[in-house]
Amino acid sequence: MDRDQLVDLTRRALKLARDKTTDLAPAEYAVRADTYTSPDRHARDRAMMMASPQLVGYASELPGPNTYCTKTVMGRSIVLTRSRHGAVKAFDNVCLHRQSQITEGCGTARRLTCPYHAWNYDLDGNLVGVPGKEGFPESTSSGAKLQQLPAAECAGFLWVGLDPDATLDIRGFLGPLADELEAWGVGRWSPLGEKVLDSAINWKLAIDTFAENYHFATVHKRTFATIARSNCTVFDSFGLHHRLVFPLNGILDLDGVPEEQWDPLQNMVVIYALFPNIVLSATIANGELFRVYPGEVPGRSITVHQNSTPLDLSDESVAAGAQAVFDYAHGTVRDEDYALVEKLQANLASGAKDRLVFGRNEPGLQHRHQMWEEAIAR
Ligand code: FES
Ligand SMILES: [Fe+2]
Repeated sequence: MDRDQLVDLTRRALKLARDKTTDLAPAEYAVRADTYTSPDRHARDRAMMMASPQLVGYASELPGPNTYCTKTVMGRSIVLTRSRHGAVKAFDNVCLHRQSQITEGCGTARRLTCPYHAWNYDLDGNLVGVPGKEGFPESTSSGAKLQQLPAAECAGFLWVGLDPDATLDIRGFLGPLADELEAWGVGRWSPLGEKVLDSAINWKLAIDTFAENYHFATVHKRTFATIARSNCTVFDSFGLHHRLVFPLNGILDLDGVPEEQWDPLQNMVVIYALFPNIVLSATIANGELFRVYPGEVPGRSITVHQNSTPLDLSDESVAAGAQAVFDYAHGTVRDEDYALVEKLQANLASGAKDRLVFGRNEPGLQHRHQMWEEAIAR
């Protein structure tokens, strides 16, 4: 984001903070409780996910030629590679022999060797070595290759398509946010690993917890609310996606300070809600990524939480500090947000009440749900 844009967002955030208000949607918005509980809606949600481009990680997770990383998307194991030519490719992490996973984690290699019987593959997915090859005269013909999936590197992130026949146009998909995310550089910062939450909440309910800061003063009274304002958000939508700016508590100190002297990134957290299942929280020091996936049933979901940092992790104490920040944020989401909404999910499932409501002060929630509704209706 360029400075003019950051100053403009800071100006808007400062006005909201000064006026003790927040950006407002035109009206309240009601959602049916079975949005979160119905098997039919769940099946349609999963189909929507299968048809949507999937942001699966930071470009920095494939830091150079001959690197690979693995990702799990709705139970499907995928290996992404950057071959010696530099291009990013993706394959089902499924051996051509008996479907073992070929690799796990991430690393540097010219070949990936299946741990079961050592069939091996180059980073373009070609089967290049088979012990006891005479046993497989048909399966190992030249041209045998892992199932390739559409893949892209865009805006600093890694993307895959789950339909092998689809084509990905991520720049078109992100619109103006492509350049904005690229400018942040979050996707090129150093990755700090993945933490997984397997939760008793619908995947949309998990995402809802990130879509407003109305709950900060209560749920995060002793954590996030000590640094960020509550019920105060700058909201902008970009087609399927939206952006929230959460002002930090110190923003009111800018009152009376000439704009040329502002350091906008010291005063805000920017949350990007990317369709359909990505939350990206960007600050001057962190690029937190939440990839949220529908589980096997409506009441379960998987959240993969990642974090990246612009700090130099070769210094041990810096690396330990960055991990501590990641642990803290993860613990807060797990123990404050998700713990609370597990009981909310139970209420939804009980059938006690057939509606819930999103306020005018929750435009991010309204936008997310409107975009999902439109997508599943298509
Ligand atoms: S399953 Fe991979 S080599 Fe046998
Ligand atoms: Fe929260």
